[in-house]
Amino acid sequence: MTSWFASPDDASARLHATGYLADAATATTAYLAGALEKPLLVEGPAGVGKTELAKAVARASGAELVRLQCYEGLDEARALYEWNYKKQLLRIQASGDEGWDETHDDIFTDEFLLTRPLLTAIRREEPTVLLIDEVDKTDVEVEGLLLEVLSDFQVTIPELGTVTATRRPFVVLTSNATRELSEAVKRRCLFLHLDYPDSEREREIVTSQVPGLPDKVATQLVEVVARLRELELKKAPSIAESIDWARTLIALEIGDLDEEAVRRTLGVVLKHSSDHERAVKELRLAATR
Ligand SMILES: Nc1ncnc2c1ncn2[C@@H]1O[C@H](COP(=O)(O)OP(=O)(O)OP(=O)(O)O)[C@@H](O)[C@H]1O
Ligand SMILES: [Mg+2]
Repeated sequence: MTSWFASPDDASARLHATGYLADAATATTAYLAGALEKPLLVEGPAGVGKTELAKAVARASGAELVRLQCYEGLDEARALYEWNYKKQLLRIQASGDEGWDETHDDIFTDEFLLTRPLLTAIRREEPTVLLIDEVDKTDVEVEGLLLEVLSDFQVTIPELGTVTATRRPFVVLTSNATRELSEAVKRRCLFLHLDYPDSEREREIVTSQVPGLPDKVATQLVEVVARLRELELKKAPSIAESIDWARTLIALEIGDLDEEAVRRTLGVVLKHSSDHERAVKELRLAATR
């Protein structure tokens, strides 16, 4: 059994050391997911650090990250494995007067198997973080495929038998909650809701990711971002946008985030023109001439 983190504090410190600032709930859940060997389902809005958490767990524990990016239409052949038909066909053509049984036994072996992320993660003998990213983007049927992996850490291949993990991967599933996941999947996971951080932690995240950002600007930036999040926008700015904004301000050598500077750079933070207009109005910024 791999021990991932020794305690919630250990999780917090080691994630921090790799550049990921976890709050208490996140550090505790990451510790538990490792200790209980349970998959971790992380849900929350875009850009709050769901995917990054999986990457950080991998960095913090020297594990390799195996990623299954979910999308509409994702199927077994892309998620689990598929047979290499072309190679099988060539083998059949080259079999000459060999009996079919022998050929058949030969072409359904490892050599002809193309492994996809779920099977790859199950078979790896080294520490592995399996990231099943944006699981809500798949069709519900794909969740059925996941169940065997999530509950038993195994994959059944009819022609080969059942492959069971010798070393259980640390599994992270992420979701934007665009649809409800099945109860069956939820039941097998620990659940973590990630949301926008408070200003203090966001300031810490931004300054650690963007060295050289003046203190004053950092404080102003997280304040404006917090105010923007209170407005009813189509797309509230996420941590990712705060980081982009900080980089922008450095590039433009802006040392004071006053109204004029906000107006000039708002496009980095808000991506809809209606949000832009609303923000300008609500933040009582003078409209551009
Ligand atoms: N706690 C954190 N510590 C350090 N950086 C963070 C943290 N949370 C988010 N970030 C930064 O924010 C960026 C966006 O995070 P990430 O890509 O993980 O978002 P996400 O929640 O997966 O969003 P989406 O739903 O759009 O995929 C990351 O690249 C990372 O730099
Ligand atoms: Mg993501």
